Amino acid sequence: SPHVSAVIEGLCATVTDYPKPGIVFQDLTPVFANGPALKQVVDAIVCAFAGKFDAVAGVEARGFLLAAAAAYATGTGVITIRKAGKLPREVLSESYSLEYGEATLELHQGDVPAGTRVLILDDVLATGGTLGAAAALLERTGAVVAGVGVVLEIDGLPGRDNLAGHEVLSLLHV
Ligand code: PRP
Ligand code: MG
Repeated sequence: SPHVSAVIEGLCATVTDYPKPGIVFQDLTPVFANGPALKQVVDAIVCAFAGKFDAVAGVEARGFLLAAAAAYATGTGVITIRKAGKLPREVLSESYSLEYGEATLELHQGDVPAGTRVLILDDVLATGGTLGAAAALLERTGAVVAGVGVVLEIDGLPGRDNLAGHEVLSLLHV
C-alpha cells in the first residue's frame, strides 16, 4: 500500500479563502471517510508512540475522531478536551489565538490521574495555538504529555514552537 503521507495527500481537499479570505483550509474529511486511509492513519500514529502512552486526548471537534479510534485500537481511554462551556463540572481553561480567531479549551478537573502519560491527537497543526493549549491543560492537571500526533502540519507557521519540549509526529507536511 502507498505510504501514509501519499494517501493523505491524495485525499486531502485544499480549500482557498475558507473560512475567510487568505486562509487555505486543509479539509481532511475525505481521509476520515475512507476506511483504509483512516486505518492507515490511526495505525501509523499509535505505532509511532507504541508503549509510551496510557490514554489518548482528543481536541474538539476533529481531534475526537482520531482520539477515539486510537484509544480503541490500543485499549486505552479517551480524554475529552472541549471548546469553552461544554463540560458540566469544574474545569481548567486555556485561551489561545487561532489562525482565524480566538478560543478557549477546557478540561474537566480530576478526569486524568496524575502521572498519566497522554498522547494528544488532532487533525491539523497550524499555528499550534490549539495543541499548545491542550498540552498546557493536561500538564496543569498533572498528566505527562507523551507526545502530539497530527495528520497534517502546515509548514511556515510557528506550530512546533508552541509545542516546545514535546515529541510531535505529523504524517504529512504541506
Ligand atoms: C482547527 C483544526 C485544529 C486547529 C489547528 O480546529 O481542527 O484543531 O484548527 O489550528 P492551530 O494550530 O492554528 O490552532 P478548529 O478550531 O477550526 O475547530 P474544529 O476542530 O472544531 O473544526
Ligand atoms: Mg480542531
